[in-house]
Amino acid sequence: MNLDINKIKTDFPILNREVRPGTRLVYLDSTATAQKPGIVIDSMKQYYETNNANIHRGIHQLAEEATAMYESARQKIAIFIHARSTKEIVFTRNATESINLVAQTWGRKFLQAGDLIILTEMEHHSNLVPWQMLAEEKNLELDFIPVTENGELDLDTYDLLLEKKPKLVAFTHMSNVLGTINPAKEMIEKAHNAGALVLVDGAQSVPHFSVDVTDLNADFYVFSAHKMVGPTGIGVLYGKEKLLAEMPPFLGGGDMIKKVLLRSFKPNDLPHKFEAGTPAIAEAIGFGKAIDYLSAIGMENIANHEKKITQYALQKLKDVENLKVFCPNVTERGGVISFELGFVHPHDVAQVLDHYGIAVRAGHHCAMPLHEKFGLPATSRASFYLYNDYEDVDLLVIGLQHVNEMFA
Ligand code: ALA
Repeated sequence: MNLDINKIKTDFPILNREVRPGTRLVYLDSTATAQKPGIVIDSMKQYYETNNANIHRGIHQLAEEATAMYESARQKIAIFIHARSTKEIVFTRNATESINLVAQTWGRKFLQAGDLIILTEMEHHSNLVPWQMLAEEKNLELDFIPVTENGELDLDTYDLLLEKKPKLVAFTHMSNVLGTINPAKEMIEKAHNAGALVLVDGAQSVPHFSVDVTDLNADFYVFSAHKMVGPTGIGVLYGKEKLLAEMPPFLGGGDMIKKVLLRSFKPNDLPHKFEAGTPAIAEAIGFGKAIDYLSAIGMENIANHEKKITQYALQKLKDVENLKVFCPNVTERGGVISFELGFVHPHDVAQVLDHYGIAVRAGHHCAMPLHEKFGLPATSRASFYLYNDYEDVDLLVIGLQHVNEMFA
């Protein structure tokens, strides 16, 4: 089904604003954070105006309403990613915190000096630094699946790395720089056959296509609400119930306990064991609405739309002189295009585009090692979501032609 982009654009209040008088916003930075539809924003306002109370604590009407709303969001998320139970859905602040949680609880408890963790060269910093910190603390080994010239993971080398019997493989489902969609199911099966657990960074996949964590057989799967039209400050750690049950708590405090004595405590049941203190209640409710919104449009429809826009953009960008797309030949790709424009610095590219109301990201996109591998200090990046249309791409192309004229 073709999406009605004109209608979708009206759902997002910010897309109606002018960046400056007479210049409409062309938002091409959804990989950094997505815009929010009115129903998400309104749900949070309405919660504060009519239901605001702390959860899991009070027995008054408002506390019961707030608790029901918060837990209903968890239920929606479990259904959205096909988890077996809400016990497998832990609310965190974002995908980054989810990865840190696994590193600091499962990693600290179950890994020993000399154990190997396999990562990939295309990870963003969130899926590198927590493992580097753990490796330093526990004297672990890290190894990396290389990225080919074509922007894909070198799966032959992955097979060889698995012969070293790693304890964990952690990789991104979709690259935030190349747009590459990795063959997660196949990679997870191979890791399991080698005796490793698998953490998948789904920050860029869950917002853009349908993900079934049970079918993938992922052990841990992490993502953030803000990249999927939800609010900032809330994310998810999906973990298999058996694994979460064996892991010690992450942060200590209220709500994550069943009983507290002066010198000891008994942790709460899943998933509350990992949710210390008052959580982001309004944000969870907004997250639930974001799931409702995406589900109503349909993840298949969103994925198809992004595919069409990306193919159109790759074709149109060929009209821009001196423009080189970073890894254009990726076969399975999402709506992310990183590029260079001759010798113009990406910050200058972004600044000139901004003058025309076009928002792109410039820099290393939190993936310095990947840029270093390709010998690039920085790139410009345009990324697409359900509210982008062909006209947005056309305006990007015109904007880039202006950059060329300006720096000729
Ligand atoms: N990882 C996010 C990005 O790609 C922040 O922009």
